[in-house]
Amino acid sequence: MKKVCCLNNISSKGTDLLGEEYVLTDELAEADAVLVRSASMHEAELPESLLAIARAGAGVNNIPLEKCAERGIVVFNAPGANANAVKELVLAGMLLASRDIIGGVEWGRANRENPDVSKAAEKEKKKFAGCEIAGKTLGIIGLGAIGYKLAKTAEALGMQVLGYDPYLDLQDVKMTKNLDDIFAVSDYITLHVPLLPDTREMIDAAAIAKMKDGVVILNYARDLLVQEADLAEALKSGKVKRYLCDFANPNTLAMENCIVTPHLGASTEESEENCAVMAVEEIRNYVENGNIINSVTFPRVDKGVPAKAVRLGIFYKDTDALEGLKALLGDDILGGMRGAYGYAVADLDESADYDAVKAVSGVYRVRVVRG
Ligand code: MLT
Repeated sequence: MKKVCCLNNISSKGTDLLGEEYVLTDELAEADAVLVRSASMHEAELPESLLAIARAGAGVNNIPLEKCAERGIVVFNAPGANANAVKELVLAGMLLASRDIIGGVEWGRANRENPDVSKAAEKEKKKFAGCEIAGKTLGIIGLGAIGYKLAKTAEALGMQVLGYDPYLDLQDVKMTKNLDDIFAVSDYITLHVPLLPDTREMIDAAAIAKMKDGVVILNYARDLLVQEADLAEALKSGKVKRYLCDFANPNTLAMENCIVTPHLGASTEESEENCAVMAVEEIRNYVENGNIINSVTFPRVDKGVPAKAVRLGIFYKDTDALEGLKALLGDDILGGMRGAYGYAVADLDESADYDAVKAVSGVYRVRVVRG
């Protein structure tokens, strides 16, 4: 029986798929696998039993990736599973930034006792007038699943779209390799990149200075992509018209012209279900078959369901290790590297000399998946 620890609420649509060979536990210390959403795992004691962590979402900055990779604990995410939910909230954000819907609704609430409210509304409505998004330019930074969906929907709504992504070339979205182009032409700029050392505070005073006056910035990705003190200044001066963000903290909540939501991007029934199902399928495939699909730390290795008596999952660091393993175990082995870390699945007719496998140069963890 394998033990799965959910560190956050995970949709039962996913956990119901775990089946009879698994049991849920509240104790991380005894877990074989972890399902997590936003709980930080950086300080957590990871038990020897732990095989895998699956994030029911895209970003993985709440998980100690290097520490896990070093120990051969596979970290998965759920790419694309919540993309539509986030896209829809970004669209709502663009509309909230463009029309003073919030101001208008608040006005109605404040005037609900006024018997002449209908007349007053016609008089006051000019205070809440705005602009349309059609015809405006949307700069999208990061064209992964969310950014791409947003590009297509924004085009369909009549916007001009310019995308920036250093890792992707798309044929059906107008792209630039120069971030300054995004800053120069965009009326709306939206961020869809992970939080990494080179994206941290990418929107700072220097970047904002290159933007159009009255630009709207949307951040439904990660709070620390933006230098919040610089942005607060730019909102105060009017250089930035509005900041839409999904991260409630004392800084964002104190900013003028900032519309804050409490990390709601992926909070739809559909997205929570999609993420939970994807995360559970990843864990089951790894636990039962040793296959790795959608890991952020190890290469994709999919060898299907084991057909032979023995299956090994082998972690290594040396690019030549795969050749060494083939020489020892034969050719029925599939593996590769992702950055510094390698993983291979080997199928055998009978048990191997595990000490010899562990002795192959670069190998640091061997898991008997079957046998
Ligand atoms: C993500 O990284 O996809 C989101 O943070 C998911 C979530 O809200 O849990």
